[in-house]
Amino acid sequence: MPRPSRALLMAALASLATLHGLAGVGATVEETCSAAASRDRRVDYGFCVSELSKHRDSPSADACGLAKVAANVGVNNAGAAVNDLEALLTAAAVQQPPPDARVTAALRLCEKLYYDMELAFAGAYDETNAHNYTAGRQMAADADSLVRRCTGGFAEAGLPPPEPVARRSAYAVQIAIVCTAITNLLISP
Ligand SMILES: *[C@@H]1O[C@H](CO)[C@@H](O)[C@H](O)[C@H]1NC(C)=O
Repeated sequence: MPRPSRALLMAALASLATLHGLAGVGATVEETCSAAASRDRRVDYGFCVSELSKHRDSPSADACGLAKVAANVGVNNAGAAVNDLEALLTAAAVQQPPPDARVTAALRLCEKLYYDMELAFAGAYDETNAHNYTAGRQMAADADSLVRRCTGGFAEAGLPPPEPVARRSAYAVQIAIVCTAITNLLISP
């Protein structure tokens, strides 16, 4: 039996893709990030595509699934930030001469805020999973305000945040924006 030609295979795949589209599943990361960026100018399209694409759930996810992926990525980043902050506080405790007390206070505040952020993103995941999108959006917005309070703690002391904190914070702001924007697409497509 002759093997089907590549053209026939591609046509078959294309019609499958159309069926998927009609069923409303398997929204691509690119399509969803593009729609989110058109709706909300704060969304960094390149960040959205690269970070959501890394997740194993993304290839088969619809828009709701991608909002959950964004929340999950937010949980992971916040958890990693808590670890970074614990390491910084441990190092500060033995540093000679001791660091400025304002640095230690700002690090402690950030550790608490990132812990709360982990819970906020986890809550956003759960609410989105339960299709309560307005509650999910609120929790993603809570995550955004928590990271701003962390960076604000350093700004008030007139100090730059240490590099890992600055990096985690920039990441947290972006993923919270992506999560909020995709959830907004679910609320009003
Ligand atoms: C959605 O979540 C909010 C806040 O947790 C809650 O007050 C509301 O009852 C929930 N709505 C539904 C339909 O479950």
